[in-house]
Formats: sequence, C-alpha cells, structure tokens
Amino acid sequence: MSGNVRPASMERITNFELAQKFIDEQVAEVRAQVGDKKVLLALSGGVDSSVVAALLIKAIGKQLVCVHVNHGLMRKNESESVIKMFQDGLDANLIYVDATDHFLNLLAGVSEPERKRKIIGKEFITVFADEARKLEDITFLAQGTIYPDILESMKAAEGKKAVKSHHNVGGLPEDLKFELVEPIKLLYKDEVRVVGEALGLPHAMVYRQPFPGPGLGVRCLGAITRDRLEALREADAILREEFDKCGLAEKVWQYFIAIPDIKSVGVRDESRYEGWPAIIRAVNTKDAMTATIEEIPYEILHKITYRITHEVEGINRVLMDLTPKPIGTIEWE
Ligand code: XMP
Repeated sequence: MSGNVRPASMERITNFELAQKFIDEQVAEVRAQVGDKKVLLALSGGVDSSVVAALLIKAIGKQLVCVHVNHGLMRKNESESVIKMFQDGLDANLIYVDATDHFLNLLAGVSEPERKRKIIGKEFITVFADEARKLEDITFLAQGTIYPDILESMKAAEGKKAVKSHHNVGGLPEDLKFELVEPIKLLYKDEVRVVGEALGLPHAMVYRQPFPGPGLGVRCLGAITRDRLEALREADAILREEFDKCGLAEKVWQYFIAIPDIKSVGVRDESRYEGWPAIIRAVNTKDAMTATIEEIPYEILHKITYRITHEVEGINRVLMDLTPKPIGTIEWE
C-alpha cells in the first residue's frame, strides 16, 4: 500500500464483500512488491499483527517468517494460542522465542513506570533484531501499522506531548535495513477487524480487547516479582473467564487486573494470611482518550472476588477501581 494518506475516495470497509475486495487487492500488491523474497514479521498475537500475518500467509505462504517473542509478560496461555493458531492452524513459518528470563532479570528491582516501559520496549527490539540477524535472505519487514498509528505519529511530529511512552515495534538498529510491507496502514481498527474475520481468523480473536505492548508489566505495579506476576496472570485469567461467561466480554471495551506492591493482613484456613489486593479495572471508551467505568452487577463481582481469593496464591482481597479517565489513565502505569 503506497502513500501514508488515506484518499478521500477510499470506501470504509464495513462488510465481508468489501473486505474480500481489499484482501484480493492487497494479496496482488504484496506479491508484486515482494516477488520471491522473504518477509519478516514480529507476531505478538494482537489483532493488527495477526491480521497482517494471515494476509501475508495468503499472499506469500512460507516466504513470510513470523517471530513471536514471549517477553514473559503475556496473559495466561497467550503465546501457546499464537503458536496453535498460526503454526498448527495456518502452517505458518513461525519462530518462537521465550525471552522470559531475560526480561524479568532486566526488570528486577525497577519500580519507576517509564523506566519499565523503556526497558521492555528497547529489549523487545533487541531480542527481535537478534533473531532477525540469525536469519538469511530477509529483504522485507512487515508491520501491523494501522491508520491511527500514522495519525498519532503525525501529532508526535508536531511536538504534542504524550502522557506515557506507548511502545510498539519500530526503529530497528541501523545494520538491519529492510523495506517495509504495511498492508493495513490505511485502515481504521474496525476495518482491520472486518478484514480479519474475512481472512478466517476467529471472531473472539479479532474482537479481543486491546492489550498494551508492555503487557502485564504495567499491571504488576512497581518492581515486578515472579510470584506477584504469576498471581496477576492467574487473577486476570479468572476475570476474563467470568466476563466471557456472563457476556460482559462482548460489552466492555477493556477489563483487566492490576496488582500493587503492597500486602495487607487477611485470614485463610484460620491462620493469618498476608496477601496482595487484586484491583479490577473495567472501562468503556471510543478512542482511549477518555473512559468511563462499567457498572458490573454485584453478584458477578462477588463471584470473581470469591474465585480470585480462593484460587490464586498470594491474593487476599479484591478491589474495584471506579476512576474514569481523566483523571486516571486506563492502565495504572
Ligand atoms: P492509557 O493507560 O494511556 O491507555 O490510558 C490507553 C490505551 O492504550 C493502551 N496502552 C498501550 N498500547 N502500547 C500499546 O499498544 C503501549 O505501550 C500501551 N500502553 C497503554 C492501554 O491498554 C489502553 O487501551
């Protein structure tokens, strides 16, 4: 897709037929651009990179090399499902890199949110670049850039200050020079989802809630420890399971658990039990610039509280964050 400005004449992709037309055009365009050369893609498993992967597999099959880096801050079973969907399901050429220890060692003792973000963003690029250097004959780098990313970088170029340093892949080291393949860069998110479904990706995957690049790293508040990170992963999985069961997963824009680095006194099995509080955040928004709080029925909150405090090691309380954005941001860090 050439040019970084969406032409006024470009029709909004709202249905399967328009998505199919877009896919056919992009398959032809990618084939013409790439020829018989190889393309590299950092496949996080998020909607954008997954749609690009599925599109490129359709266009060039095994000429696409996907690298999935597990930074140890993924949600429960997330890396496994990326492997299942792409390697087993779509026969993708997929390299899995488990960099959990590397990331957690670097993050040990680091409590300042922006430093954590910087470390995770920088190391992600380092690990991905190391994998890229091991591969031969790669000419192209595919990216899941979408139109809001382009609009956002235009704003940044105008010098508008960001509240947080959001990170996504970009800015590879100088020695790695690839030509870019960005087939969905003129699409809005809703269009990416329609295209994803037309490509055969599962509905639940294509309509999943957003997940930040630094992953659970910005929800395991303060200095990350392995035990608190594990508690967070388990509590988050319970929250998602219960939201799925009662239909809230389809309704709420983003929902997750954050765990601060404090302990309180509780009682379990008739003994003193010191544990962390799990904080539920469930927000609705259109563009993530402002957000309101979802009013979750008490019976669901009680069930989630019971399950988290009984099933997750290290947690003895569940709290609900009622703060809109502004004044809170959606993520705690
Ligand atoms: P905040 O916390 O700034 O979050 O209100 C707004 C939205 O952005 C997501 N978020 C990120 N997304 N990389 C991303 O791709 C990041 O580094 C990042 N940090 C926050 C957040 O989950 C929310 O949806």
